[in-house]
Amino acid sequence: MKKLRILKDTNPSLRKKSVEVKLPLSQEDKDTLLAMNEWLRLSQDDEYAEKHNMKAGVGMAAPQVGVNKRMFVIYFQNNDGTYTNYILVNPRIIEQSAKMAALNGGEGCLSVDNPHQGLVHRHNKIKLVAYNLLSDKEETITAEGYEAIVLQHEYDHLDGILFYDRIDPFQPNNPKPGEKII
Ligand code: NI
Repeated sequence: MKKLRILKDTNPSLRKKSVEVKLPLSQEDKDTLLAMNEWLRLSQDDEYAEKHNMKAGVGMAAPQVGVNKRMFVIYFQNNDGTYTNYILVNPRIIEQSAKMAALNGGEGCLSVDNPHQGLVHRHNKIKLVAYNLLSDKEETITAEGYEAIVLQHEYDHLDGILFYDRIDPFQPNNPKPGEKII
C-alpha cells in the first residue's frame, strides 16, 4: 500500500484548483485512491489510529496528499451500522437545494490542526455525477444531510476551499434562514 503524507493547510498546494483526471484511471491514480480509502478505514479503528497517531477521518481529497487532481474518497459508518463509501473521480455537482444545512459542532479536517468554531454552511441536498472506482461506473449520487455535507467538504478541496472559509467571521454561530442544524 502506498504511503501517504497528509499536508496541512499551511501548504499552498491545498489552495490550488485541481485538474480533471484522465479516464480510465492510471495505476498510479488507482493506487493513490485505494491508499486514501484504506487510510480512512484504519483511522476509524481506535486502537490502530492511536498506535499510529492518526486523527479519525471520514473523507479525504487527493490535494490533501499532494495530488492536485479532482478525486476524493468518503468513508463513514451510518447510524444503522452500514457504511457509506465512495471513491469518486471528476465529480460534478449538478443540483443543490436552496435549503442549507450545517453540523452543530462545526467541521474538522485532516489538514487543519487548529479548531475553527462556527457553522459551516452547506446545501442540505445535492445531486452529483462522478466516476466511482468502487463500482467502476459513472454514477449519479443524490445525498442529503450529513452525507451531502461530507461530499461538499471534499468537493471544496478540489477548488482549494477549506471548511472555515464558509464560517461567517462576524456571526459564526448564526444559522441561515431555514437552515437545518444536524
Ligand atoms: Ni478536509
